[in-house]
Amino acid sequence: MTTPISGVIGWPISHSKSPCIHRYWLKKNKIRGEYRSLSIEPENFLRELKSLPSKGFVGANVTIPHKEAALKNATQATNRACSIGAANTLVFLPNGGYHADNTDGEGFINNLKQNAPGWDASIGPAFVIGAGGASRAILYSLLVSGTPEILLANRTKSRAERLATEFGKRITVIDWADISLATAKVTTIINTTSLGMTGQAELEITLQCSPNTLVTDIVYAPLQTDLLKQAADRGCETVDGLGMLLHQAVPGFEAWFGTRPSVDETLRQIVLV
Ligand code: ATR
Repeated sequence: MTTPISGVIGWPISHSKSPCIHRYWLKKNKIRGEYRSLSIEPENFLRELKSLPSKGFVGANVTIPHKEAALKNATQATNRACSIGAANTLVFLPNGGYHADNTDGEGFINNLKQNAPGWDASIGPAFVIGAGGASRAILYSLLVSGTPEILLANRTKSRAERLATEFGKRITVIDWADISLATAKVTTIINTTSLGMTGQAELEITLQCSPNTLVTDIVYAPLQTDLLKQAADRGCETVDGLGMLLHQAVPGFEAWFGTRPSVDETLRQIVLV
């Protein structure tokens, strides 16, 4: 029997945590499979991607800067990948071509479900900070999970307005100057920007939310961002961003290797090293 191979394609790729995640699951589940790191320049992406099935690949993850090209050239794509405008998980089809999905939003929701079990997307309005690629995936997943209303703020307001036009009436764009005020009006607060990450500026915000607000961050280095510390000081429940990274990897592993893996504490520790 041939050994199924998957991997992550990016440019550059050395920073990716995906090999660490999938190799842990292969070992833990005693699966004969491989997960490789593929550094491929944008101009070679499609050619190299097409050559992978003949080398034993059953699929691949794609990361920056290939996520949009991976969606555009897919034979089939999920609704969520099309709505988000980018793909991160590919499965090669038996007769050529590939199926494209975007699992970031599912990773976001499942991280909250695992780490804040009482939380539900439909319990009240959410406040999303940022309007980049991660924000698109999170907005999509909140809307399909039943969030009744979303306040959206972005430094560059026009990007937030574009997202609101695309994603519909449940999204209200607010001014960047009003981000502190907005926190008083919602039950879930999400930072989707890179602010607060090691080496980046802090997110300048003063939380005014009640203690039954859930606060989460997509930044996971550091694990406890200033936003999460401030939230915890107010008595709010907080969930760090590492779980989103781990949970977004679950559907790909299951599609390629046939076993749905679990996100456990050992995996968190391994990825943090
Ligand atoms: P990603 O795909 O990871 O979301 P991105 O598309 O580059 O990355 O988006 C980054 C987000 O962080 C954007 O919302 C960006 O705001 P702008 O659209 O105004 O650029 C936000 N961001 C990055 N640096 C920022 C800063 N110094 N202040 C405020 N927002 C910032």
